[in-house]
Amino acid sequence: MAARLHRQQPSRQYQPRRSGCDENDGKNVHMRKPIVRSLLKGVAFITGAASGIGKATAYSLARHGITKLAITDINLAAAEKTASTLKSDLGGHIHVLPLKLDVTNEQAVAETVSTIVKEFGRIDVAVNNAGIGGPAVPSADHPYEEWKKTLDIDLNGVWLTSREEIRQMLKQEPLVPNSPRHPRGTIINIASMYGIVATNLNTPVVSYTAAKHGVVGLTKADAVAYASRGIKINALCPGYVLTPLMQEHMKGETMQKELEKTPMGRMATMEEMGDHVVMLASPLGSFMCGAALVADGGFTIQ
Ligand SMILES: NC(=O)c1ccc[n+]([C@@H]2O[C@H](COP(=O)([O-])OP(=O)(O)OC[C@H]3O[C@@H](n4cnc5c(N)ncnc54)[C@H](O)[C@@H]3O)[C@@H](O)[C@H]2O)c1
Repeated sequence: MAARLHRQQPSRQYQPRRSGCDENDGKNVHMRKPIVRSLLKGVAFITGAASGIGKATAYSLARHGITKLAITDINLAAAEKTASTLKSDLGGHIHVLPLKLDVTNEQAVAETVSTIVKEFGRIDVAVNNAGIGGPAVPSADHPYEEWKKTLDIDLNGVWLTSREEIRQMLKQEPLVPNSPRHPRGTIINIASMYGIVATNLNTPVVSYTAAKHGVVGLTKADAVAYASRGIKINALCPGYVLTPLMQEHMKGETMQKELEKTPMGRMATMEEMGDHVVMLASPLGSFMCGAALVADGGFTIQ
């Protein structure tokens, strides 16, 4: 039996090539994987897509069938770089539109959605990912300006973008008609496990925690309001993810302590988060409505 199994191994092993999402380390990479192209259809819009989880999500969506992709970020040069590496890594059939967008600017958000619809005709999958960490200090030591900044980007920015996305999705018909597993559009808000539980004394990111709890609340309220009109809205609540920024933090004692508290004993890769977004966006997650899907290696179940 063993010999037969051995003979069935492919003679030529697939050789992965490191691609545009691998600048941070050797483990957290986007290999040049075969494109599956069966789960998703249509147009996607991602905020904060120039780096980290947003960039990995762009790769995951494109690998699973999205062919038109708006890569938006406050940093236009980085968004353009992500767009061009994604195209060269995954192929010329993918239309990528890099755009500058500050998610806290109401007018810019409306104009961006309108530009995407002019270019691609619709928005099927929207991922509201742009966010910042905020200071790791408890309230008594927290400057008000920093509080407002964190809430503005992490909560108001998600609401502003999702409001415009909902307005657009209400105008469009589902790509697959008369199928309960294919909505008019789907929105995934990137929250955090700190949208579910409080941070501990080791990392008291109080404004971030408040904002991410707000994102989970907003997700539930809008999911209820728009489910019957064919828009599916959910949140992803990641634990610690090895983004370029987090890799810097991991050198310190604080993050090492956080890692010790994670039952799976590791951080997530960015690619895993991108793939979880695919699940929420696709028919595989078709009965999920207002969920706050926790993907934290077991951190919050203790
Ligand atoms: N990395 C983690 O461990 C982790 C864990 C839980 C949740 N998250 C959430 O995931 C999301 C992405 O985080 P990341 O770790 O990939 O961060 P990142 O810093 O690598 O990427 C964030 C991107 O957002 C952009 N951005 C910042 N402010 C913006 C604004 N006002 N408008 C538009 N774009 C803006 C940045 O330019 C950057 O490209 C955030 O919402 C974050 O809170 C991250």
